[in-house]
Amino acid sequence: MDPASDGVIDDILSVRGGRLFVEEIAADELARRFGTPIYVMSETGLRRRIRRYVEAFQVRWPEGPVHILPSIKANFSLALRHVLTQEGVGCDTFGLAELHAALESRVPPELISVNGSSKDRALMVRALQAGARITLDSPREVDLVRDVARELRLRARVRFRVRPAYENLEQLSDFHEEEVSVREAAQAYKPGIPTESLLPLGPDALSAPELEVTGVMAHLGRHSADLEVWRGMARSMGRLIGELHEAWSGWEPHEIDLGGGFASPRDPTARATHRGALRTGESRAPTVEEYAQVMTDGLRSALTEARVSSKGKVFEVEPGRGLYADAGIHVATVRNIKSQTQPVRRTWVETDTSEMFLLDTLIERNRWTPLVAEMVSASPTQTADLVGISCGFDVIVPEARLPPVNVGNHIALLDTGAYQDATAANFNAMPRPATILVHGSEAEVIKRAETIEDVFRRDVVPGRLQAPAREREK
Ligand SMILES: Cc1ncc(COP(=O)(O)O)c(C=O)c1O
Repeated sequence: MDPASDGVIDDILSVRGGRLFVEEIAADELARRFGTPIYVMSETGLRRRIRRYVEAFQVRWPEGPVHILPSIKANFSLALRHVLTQEGVGCDTFGLAELHAALESRVPPELISVNGSSKDRALMVRALQAGARITLDSPREVDLVRDVARELRLRARVRFRVRPAYENLEQLSDFHEEEVSVREAAQAYKPGIPTESLLPLGPDALSAPELEVTGVMAHLGRHSADLEVWRGMARSMGRLIGELHEAWSGWEPHEIDLGGGFASPRDPTARATHRGALRTGESRAPTVEEYAQVMTDGLRSALTEARVSSKGKVFEVEPGRGLYADAGIHVATVRNIKSQTQPVRRTWVETDTSEMFLLDTLIERNRWTPLVAEMVSASPTQTADLVGISCGFDVIVPEARLPPVNVGNHIALLDTGAYQDATAANFNAMPRPATILVHGSEAEVIKRAETIEDVFRRDVVPGRLQAPAREREK
């Protein structure tokens, strides 16, 4: 969009009279009504995005059903998950609490994948009782789930989380500032059953009366937005399926789940270096349709080469950031503007939010797009660090190009709908922000802001420490 004019930024954000709108409500109006900082999510945006994922993959995988399993870790607000449940899609969960969130939000259990590192008995029991599929991560988990299934007299529906070799993925991972290939970076990531352990355990697991082995799952993650990485990822999965097919007397998975890791359209991930500079290079993220094309093509071709039929196979993906990120913004208020000319020139626009509520500023070196909500159309006149209220460096956007912003203006940070609320931290004992759901011209709180009392609710001060100092001396 030309920032000098009113118009459409994307399908949920627009500029009207120079003001930023989320669907039919001005962002500064939301800030006044609900206070700041706040996360704002668009219900219409989320519904449109999930429908686009379903359609994009369905038309490109005519061989069988497509299940989109949004990764709830990206945003575990229950109201948002209810929206997705109404849209009829499943869910990727990690651990007991996310499984709880999915079940609370009425996700059909047969469409839930229960992931988790070193799963414990409690998680297995809950998953089996609910009828959810368990995605097994180690030989230990194979033994444990059999044990639990026997005990509960239930048949467990399980898939193997696998570790494809990603042989040809020599492109560089965006998660590393040094030159590390996606192939190498993926091997450093712990999930999945090493192939050398998986091959010998297959025959026993496949014939176990307690288990129904439905398929395989892998998740590469957002190392790269290069489509050839995604084609290669799907091909590696197809090759590994071929290896299992050979080793296990012609076994074929019913479900093939290729995980998540798809960039959101403006793709803020890893765009800043550790020193805050903007990374150059390709900034256009692939479309959902492009991802769907290369992944279905890649999987189909590798399966054909391995003489495994793709007919009837269920194709699954687990988008997180690609689904939620650009359905949300974060809104803060400018509290102060501070400048110095000596010994170096510097301007700080101080807001009432924090990198602690936008943690991918630090974790994934995201570069956010800041808009001054009241003057989106104004030309930038200054370079300033957009900073937060914690005692850390708290540089949310270094060297942001901003219009003549004033105290009391509101800053909208785009593409913050995935992982920012989910990872927000209480550093400096700061209560975490509320989430507001916008639907047309309506807006409501779907997660209230924490209070100071909430922050200290888990603390326990033993009685002996509560006596005043004078009494202790007696
Ligand atoms: C198993 C699994 N699936 C899906 C996702 C979603 O990833 P993304 O948000 O990059 O799409 C993750 C994220 O870590 C994951 O671990």
